[in-house]
Amino acid sequence: VQLDALAIPIVLAPLAGGPSTPQLVAAVAEAGGFAFLAAGYLTPEQLREQVAETERMSTRPFGVNVFVPGQPSAPETFAEYQQLLEALSAAEGVALGEPVFDDDRYEEKLDVLISSRLPVVSFTFGCPSPDVIASLHEAGSEAWVTVTSADEARRAEAAGADALVAQGTEAGGHRGGWVDDDRTIAGIGLLSLLQLVRAASRLPVVAAGGLVTAPAIAGALAAGARAAALGTAFLRCPEAGTSAVHRAALAAGTTPTALTRAFSGRTARGIRNRMLDTCSHVAPSAYPEVNNLTAPLRRAGRESGKADLVNLWAGQAYPLATDEPAGQLVERLAREVAALKA
Ligand SMILES: Cc1cc2nc3c(=O)[nH]c(=O)nc-3n(C[C@H](O)[C@H](O)[C@H](O)COP(=O)(O)O)c2cc1C
Repeated sequence: VQLDALAIPIVLAPLAGGPSTPQLVAAVAEAGGFAFLAAGYLTPEQLREQVAETERMSTRPFGVNVFVPGQPSAPETFAEYQQLLEALSAAEGVALGEPVFDDDRYEEKLDVLISSRLPVVSFTFGCPSPDVIASLHEAGSEAWVTVTSADEARRAEAAGADALVAQGTEAGGHRGGWVDDDRTIAGIGLLSLLQLVRAASRLPVVAAGGLVTAPAIAGALAAGARAAALGTAFLRCPEAGTSAVHRAALAAGTTPTALTRAFSGRTARGIRNRMLDTCSHVAPSAYPEVNNLTAPLRRAGRESGKADLVNLWAGQAYPLATDEPAGQLVERLAREVAALKA
């Protein structure tokens, strides 16, 4: 597996919605980490272009992450929340988006990735079919699957996955679980999850969630992970495409995070703000319908600097993230992890 070839046990997690850029991926890859581009929300054409741009900037291996599509939700599921959002958006002078279902153009993205012959394609929000995994293997790619429970780990192994990304509930952004039906939306913490996943599957595991500093990375490695995937730690890097409001909230480092479906209709962790605090109790599980509804509000928030309307994705340890260049960050963390192990 690709993990055997890693000089440094640090992975740049995929960061869809802006932060992931070819520049960020190339910087991490050049420093010896393994980096993911995020295909989520891109068009297949944009994905093809980002893969080509990354390849122009670095000859090192890198991977791409895709969203596995779910099922459409009945309009009654989100009718009450739509009313609440209509009141909110009217007060902001913004029209809501259309609550339509889409599959993020999954099949077309798979075609792009299969023809790109990348070393790794990773999946979140579900497990690709054994057929898809077989096509990736034929193209010379490994399939990594994000799991949030022992059951998902077992099923990913049975489907033919090559490695698991165990994502603890500390993680910033969307939870990568295969269903989003947990009414408590609490999730399993990373250390518990690593123990459960390692007992359930023999596949190599990459740990994700709340890892920002070297002692935490070393802890995940000691618990049996082959590498640590960091997302939030890279959000403030100059190479990241993180928006200005998001950067400012991360840099302030004062407000705690919470899990919510308010922004997208799928459980995700972000820094608390007015929209999260006032909408979370009503927001249903209905993705991507709710994501499409709130898109104009979130965009307006980013453009006008109103952090209260923006999904400020961040993991629990976000106040410790720095604004170092990504390559420097990877090299520093690698040095510090090595020193802890010595
Ligand atoms: C802004 C943002 C966007 C994310 N986008 C994706 C994505 O496209 N695909 C994915 O599998 N995970 C995504 N995640 C989750 C990360 O891949 C990773 O699991 C998480 O960042 C790890 O926890 P940490 O943020 O505490 O490091 C995202 C996280 C953030 C913060």
